[in-house]
Amino acid sequence: MLPTIDWKDAAVVMIDQRKLPAAEVYVTCRTAAEVAKAIKTMVIRGAPAIGVAAAMGIALGMQRSTATGTKQFTTEFQRLCDLMAATRPTAVNLFWAIERMKRTFAAAAQGGCSVEELKQRLEAEARAIHDEDVRSCREMGAHGAALVPQDAKILTHCNAGALATAGYGTALGVIRAAAEQGKRVAVLADETRPFLQGARLTAWELVKDGIDTTVITDNMAGSMMRLGNVDLVVVGADRIAANGDVANKIGTYGVAVLAKEHGIPFYVAAPLSTIDLATPDGTRIPIEERNEREVTHVGSSRLTPEGAQIRNPAFDVTPAKYVTAIITERGIARPPYAESLLHLVRGDVPVAQEP
Ligand code: MRU
Repeated sequence: MLPTIDWKDAAVVMIDQRKLPAAEVYVTCRTAAEVAKAIKTMVIRGAPAIGVAAAMGIALGMQRSTATGTKQFTTEFQRLCDLMAATRPTAVNLFWAIERMKRTFAAAAQGGCSVEELKQRLEAEARAIHDEDVRSCREMGAHGAALVPQDAKILTHCNAGALATAGYGTALGVIRAAAEQGKRVAVLADETRPFLQGARLTAWELVKDGIDTTVITDNMAGSMMRLGNVDLVVVGADRIAANGDVANKIGTYGVAVLAKEHGIPFYVAAPLSTIDLATPDGTRIPIEERNEREVTHVGSSRLTPEGAQIRNPAFDVTPAKYVTAIITERGIARPPYAESLLHLVRGDVPVAQEP
């Protein structure tokens, strides 16, 4: 399993995803501020991984607190939660993880825990969020593999792999699980401009696993579909609204529209922590606008002329009508999503399995 993020010797250690695949370098964060910076600057990225990092960052920061009384400790805790919440706006897993840390804190404080006990509870919760994410990915993979036929040609966008989670991956988890079941799969990885998560990270992970991988530029996807080179699409998600609209890496929407036009199933694999029932539809999902340098430059080389205006929305929203199914650790949701997602999150109805 790839080491995305780990808690080691009173520090949070993460592989630097900005340097892959050229170098496997690890970043050691010793303070909450360093973790927040790592999230902001994309040392670690991908919705579930961001959530895990934030939880670990809060726990780490609180361990370093010198507060002796719970009042001061509580003020510091709130400040760290706010610090993490300000890192990236789109992936709801970030806010979900912060909420979990807040609930843990409140329960422990109400139970009369000392500052030392509070520190231990926060670390335990951060570790639990990490471990649960790996388990969710494996369960998601098991459900999703049923949707993958033998000899499948699969297109994916961005990186929704082990690097984007605590391990194993969401969309790549589905692909891995299918391969582990003995199905032959061949993956087309969209390079995913401008940050190149597909070309750099997805290709790196899949090649390491010995999975047949071909990198294409984003503008090749339509032609590949028309030529019969894609049997299904599977992507991850940063936030899924209550009606099934899906925010994911910029370019996902175009892939989904193309898939529909070509009669190709378009699947989204995401843990329940990515489903945001408080957001009614995709128009309400905040879309992060990132630094224009990601578009104007590749490395230190400038591509665009000075004076041209630049846009860099990091995510787009795919309307639910383009989504064939949503694969979660609890099962597979089908349209109408307003009902199926609600039942899935509540866990009150048996969820659709594949015919
Ligand atoms: O900007 P990033 O690299 O954090 O964006 C990541 C994505 O869009 C992923 O597809 C998404 O987070 C799902 S990861 C399992």
